[in-house]
Amino acid sequence: GTPSMNDLKDIIRDVPDFPKKGIIFKDITTLLQDARSFQKMIDLLGHRYIGQKIDKVVGVEARGFIIGSALAYKLGVGVVLVRKPGKLPSETFSKTYDLEYGTDTLEIHKDAIKPGERILLADDLLATGGTMAAVVDMVEQMGGNIVECCFMSELTFLDGRKKLPEGKVYSLLQF
Ligand code: PRP
Ligand code: MG
Repeated sequence: GTPSMNDLKDIIRDVPDFPKKGIIFKDITTLLQDARSFQKMIDLLGHRYIGQKIDKVVGVEARGFIIGSALAYKLGVGVVLVRKPGKLPSETFSKTYDLEYGTDTLEIHKDAIKPGERILLADDLLATGGTMAAVVDMVEQMGGNIVECCFMSELTFLDGRKKLPEGKVYSLLQF
């Protein structure tokens, strides 16, 4: 039959000591490459937003593109790319945010979102929340109306949702 929530969790592979010793990496490639799991995951996320008048989905490079674009297709809306620096060709807004060591920057095209548009933000994983908080900042500065930040999975022990708009965070799978 169709995969259950536990099946979806179980098909995500644990890779010990990646990217460094002591970290257990949640490898989503094993879920994505399984037809029924990928379809079920996108269907479950998509059903949450059908009827919510979403104007655009924003996906975050790189793994967020996979979730965001499939979700946008399912909802029949466009997908906006938030990219790593220097990749977007036209005029951009950018946001630099802190990591455990150092900083990172994300960019979005200035004309990607119009004031008042209802925007769904999508990424594969909510960990510390730093990445999505930067995206929230940019989208709000552009006048976008954030419907929700949605994730395929969440590392709940990191409390990343505290960095995001209260009541506007959804994750399908929790670890
Ligand atoms: C990972 C993941 C999320 C982010 C979550 O992306 O895909 O985007 O980290 O972490 P945070 O909540 O602590 O910010 P990463 O930048 O590693 O690379 P990728 O998506 O390009 O593979
Ligand atoms: Mg990412």
